[in-house]
Amino acid sequence: MSVQASATRTTSVDIRARKGGEPIVSLTAYHAHTAAIADKHVDFLLVGDSLGMVMHGYETTVPVPLDLMIMHGRAVVRGAKRALVVVDMPFGSYEESPPVAFRNAAHVLKETGCGAVKLEGGRQMAETIRYLVERGIPVMAHIGLTPQAINTLGGFRAQGRTEDQWARLEADAMAVAEAGAFAIVLEAIAEPLAQRITKAVPVPTIGIGASAACDGQILVMEDMLGLSPRVPKFVKEFGQVGAAIDGAIAAYAAEVKGRAFPGVEHTYAMKGSGKK
Ligand code: KIV
Repeated sequence: MSVQASATRTTSVDIRARKGGEPIVSLTAYHAHTAAIADKHVDFLLVGDSLGMVMHGYETTVPVPLDLMIMHGRAVVRGAKRALVVVDMPFGSYEESPPVAFRNAAHVLKETGCGAVKLEGGRQMAETIRYLVERGIPVMAHIGLTPQAINTLGGFRAQGRTEDQWARLEADAMAVAEAGAFAIVLEAIAEPLAQRITKAVPVPTIGIGASAACDGQILVMEDMLGLSPRVPKFVKEFGQVGAAIDGAIAAYAAEVKGRAFPGVEHTYAMKGSGKK
């Protein structure tokens, strides 16, 4: 039995049942150590393909390969014992056809032990979502600003800021919910529209740059920790970890240069010398 299937781990069914209830707390995670810290505070952890930009220096999420998602997915599943782990399907791994999506998503589930996958897209992905869910793969949907579509969207821009865009986004939300998605990420969607979609769909909405009225919230962990050099408007920095790392490394460098580190307490004496 995989770790993900253990009795104490949150499942996609638990998340789905939280519609309209206590807000769902989630973050992205890419490593075992940060997943372990976040585990007691969050309901689910997303191994987002944002890792390509945050961790690997890509300019967009488009180049992220499936193998990279699997490697980070395994680390997060090992680190987190109770949160549901959701792994992003990267660009090119699911759009071609439902069977291709199934093959790749099943590979992700088997290799990582995660409990669900996430994929981007609205009405155009509904058939694929239904195909996966009917065959045992829980799917989180993602609409609004879908970063994998950066080349057709023309930039990282908020969506639904004029009312003529609302019908399209509402139809996307309804289509993915009807297809069986257990939750929907609403990214960078005008606040009133995010509220409206949250009221309309029967599954939890997870906001990122959307609305406090969503059924839950997600942020990229590095962004909210204050580790990212530039963050979008919707990010609140809850910590200054980047500054703390900078200060610690500066202190280390100064002590190395001044021969203050290592101190005697960090070195090994000879056996029998009476010293530790
Ligand atoms: O890749 C990611 O981190 C995401 C979140 C921003 C929702 O999709």
